[in-house]
Amino acid sequence: MTDPATVNSPGFIDLHAHLREPGFEEAETIATGARAAIGGGFTTICAMPNTEPAIDSPGLVAELLSRAAAAGGARVLAIATITRGRRGKELADLVELAAAGAVAFSDDGAPVEDPRLFRHALEYARTLGLLVIEHPQDLALSAKGVMHEGAVSARLGLPGMPAAAEETAVARDLALARLAGGRLHLTHLSTAGSVELVRRAKAEGIAVSCDVTPHHLAMTDTWVAGSRAFAWEDPHKIPSAPPYESSTKVNPPLRTLADVRALWEGLADGTIDAIATDHAPHASVRKDVEYDQAAFGISGLETALPLVLGGVRAGWASLEVVLGALTTGPARVLGIELPSGDRLVVEPDHEWTVTAEGLISKGKNTPLLGRTLQGRVRDVAIGRARMEKKGAGLGAEAIAGR
Ligand code: DOR
Repeated sequence: MTDPATVNSPGFIDLHAHLREPGFEEAETIATGARAAIGGGFTTICAMPNTEPAIDSPGLVAELLSRAAAAGGARVLAIATITRGRRGKELADLVELAAAGAVAFSDDGAPVEDPRLFRHALEYARTLGLLVIEHPQDLALSAKGVMHEGAVSARLGLPGMPAAAEETAVARDLALARLAGGRLHLTHLSTAGSVELVRRAKAEGIAVSCDVTPHHLAMTDTWVAGSRAFAWEDPHKIPSAPPYESSTKVNPPLRTLADVRALWEGLADGTIDAIATDHAPHASVRKDVEYDQAAFGISGLETALPLVLGGVRAGWASLEVVLGALTTGPARVLGIELPSGDRLVVEPDHEWTVTAEGLISKGKNTPLLGRTLQGRVRDVAIGRARMEKKGAGLGAEAIAGR
């Protein structure tokens, strides 16, 4: 019998997760990240290549995939760098990287600053049918900013990153996509202006897709000042935290309520293709320091679902839209079939409290510690067949319960 308090869903696909191995295993490993993913309902995750060394050679792609296969947990897909060493000077061997199994290319953590090089990356992507994922940020404009530039940063006396630092980069990337063709995916969009630029580009027929994170859908820059009210909540009713908590420091930064509303509108009208976590675990030595010294990033795999369900409860988008942005949306971006063996049972109303001990991820860096959230994934079935490009289906072989 079906339990009316549960919802069945395909397994979630995360286009953007940082697994930190090799190089930063104190923050996360492939094994802990892949298990945390299952905890959050993500049966497939794409590992970002900003490791040390960066994933810029076929050998490193192969090593990542074999470690992931041995680790169990979520299916891990490899994203390789666009440029050698993520240094932004010369293209990596994209053809060889794709042959080794990379599903997409990104220098995430930073943009490809040189527009000519980025044009070439898009031209390769066009001829080879590959996906380029860009982190849109004008580094000169964002400079030493540590949060969104606006009234809150002025009050706190923190250097800001203006919305224009993202929007000028999005405009550049779209202009280059128009010029070069190729599949451009813009990740972690955070401003109303960015969403509008992508909306217009799609209407024009440019082959662009984009994603947004759960934290940018749920939190505003007032969280840096201590607010802990979700965007849909009355801030007067939610107890505050101290200001300057580095767990709120993330790149792109948490933006204004108007930006959050525009992201939801973009989700609801299909401008935004996917919800991706930008799971960015960090060791406490990199986070428990002064705000301006702290690393950027929020550990997000295990809290993604309850955050976005909050917006559904507020009526900002339907459950169907949100689940689509976690499943069919990212599958379409990657050009893959949904793995048919990956199934979830979701309990949208289940309440649970986020604690450091309760998180499977080694990354405890989230401003949600101590917070009671609504919604979790109860059962996860994950198919173990290889991920195939469109046309193939996968069979279920393993069931993991919680
Ligand atoms: O907050 C972030 N953390 N944004 C990024 O672009 C990179 C990421 C990381 O690797 O820690």
